[in-house]
Amino acid sequence: MNVQKTCEQFRTYLDRIKALQNASSLLHWDAATGAPRKAVDDRSKTIGILAAEIFSLATSEDMHTYLTTLEPSVSELDPITAALVRECRKDYDKMTKIPADEYKAYSELCAKSMSVWEDAKEASDFSMFAPLLEKIVDYNRKFVQYRGHEGHPYNTLLDDYEPGITVEKLDAFFGVLREKIVPLVKKIAQSTKQIRTDFTSRSFSVEQQKAFSLYVLEKIGYDLDAGMLKESAHPFTLGFSPNDIRITTHYYPENFTSAIFSTVHEAGHAIYEQNVDQDLAGTLLSEGTSMGIHESQSRFYENILGRSLGFWKYFYPKLQELFSEQLKDVSIEQLHEAVNHSTPSLIRIEADELTYSLHVMVRYEIEKALLEGQIQVKDLPSIWNQKMEEYLGITPKNDKEGVLQDVHWSDGMFGYFPSYALGNAYGAQFVHSMKKELDLEKLVTEGQFEPIKTWLRENIHRHGKMLSPNEIIQKVTGEDLNPLYFTQYLEEKYTQLYGL
Ligand code: CO
Repeated sequence: MNVQKTCEQFRTYLDRIKALQNASSLLHWDAATGAPRKAVDDRSKTIGILAAEIFSLATSEDMHTYLTTLEPSVSELDPITAALVRECRKDYDKMTKIPADEYKAYSELCAKSMSVWEDAKEASDFSMFAPLLEKIVDYNRKFVQYRGHEGHPYNTLLDDYEPGITVEKLDAFFGVLREKIVPLVKKIAQSTKQIRTDFTSRSFSVEQQKAFSLYVLEKIGYDLDAGMLKESAHPFTLGFSPNDIRITTHYYPENFTSAIFSTVHEAGHAIYEQNVDQDLAGTLLSEGTSMGIHESQSRFYENILGRSLGFWKYFYPKLQELFSEQLKDVSIEQLHEAVNHSTPSLIRIEADELTYSLHVMVRYEIEKALLEGQIQVKDLPSIWNQKMEEYLGITPKNDKEGVLQDVHWSDGMFGYFPSYALGNAYGAQFVHSMKKELDLEKLVTEGQFEPIKTWLRENIHRHGKMLSPNEIIQKVTGEDLNPLYFTQYLEEKYTQLYGL
């Protein structure tokens, strides 16, 4: 066997998969950013055919042959091909260990379940959704058995989004968050500090908001020649290669800060992927290494930079120039306080930086117990409400603002939520290292974002999927995940803000 030749054939084979994925992604992008409404059925059919093609290439006899041929000589391969073999093996095992007919039935169940969930949420009636969710949970428990697991069965699902993360690590992680954040939230609730937020609901024209979003994007280092900004119902980032990473945002005339932070958040995701090494372009390694590391970059730009006083010292004059009437009686400090205002709320996606991770903790504990078979789906509304009361001190009045609020479970996505909280913690841990080399506050206040981006590129972005999340954290910070950097950051920030 000629390893070199097999390598080349393998890479060409992967190019075919990538091309189909790109085509499918472009259809999704088009659907979310303005394709004609009547095109939905035709487009769904096209997407379905592409998905089936991708699946069959990724699980084919050819793929099996490539993997078994290249794996014994993995040490002789170039590092990129070796990493591709490793990633393809993971996907191959994941897709082939579950019997095809069961997986098909499960996919159909999820597709149906999404629309049932929508109706149940609209009616605020969990019992409509419960029978389907029960089946989805059963399937997931069964799939974990097919796929195998080390330690807790939930570990297999967690690993899909955050390689290397386990229940053991997350129990310790959320333990620290619970111990540090819950009391801080209570202290703030008792604080007498008044934060002015009246001006945030004044009317801001969408055109001007768009101009400001583009201004900020350019300044913070999102490359508009390798991307674009459009509008969609829910903001997201879509990447093809470092040379084409697109983002969307959503403008609300009566809530101008929403688009600003959505735009900056998605820019954080996009700057990550725009700065992956060009050597990896066109391969499946040209992505963020995990959901959590991805989220660390978006939240770094959105929260750590975007909600800092220095950021607003730099950007406020421009904002005031665009909205001189609406902001004439608002100081920089008042704006900074308003965008950091913290109060327990029911909806995760609207939660502030401080309380956000507690929303994730509720979902983590429930998913873990479901996978263990410790709790029953029918009891979820009451379990949910109890946990919200315990951690946030508020109880949802109905299922719509409680257990039914998120789409993830209807699509069978178990193990995804923890990434959001991990992202917050990774971000703060990276910043601790960054500050040893850069005067972050000074740079942001002066609008010098290039050295920050360079630091992120060299330490994190350029590696793409070549390094695992834990390898990156170790390399950058010299230790494993340590949530204390995040909780210290929160304690300092909110103590100052609320004068605690
Ligand atoms: Co994100």
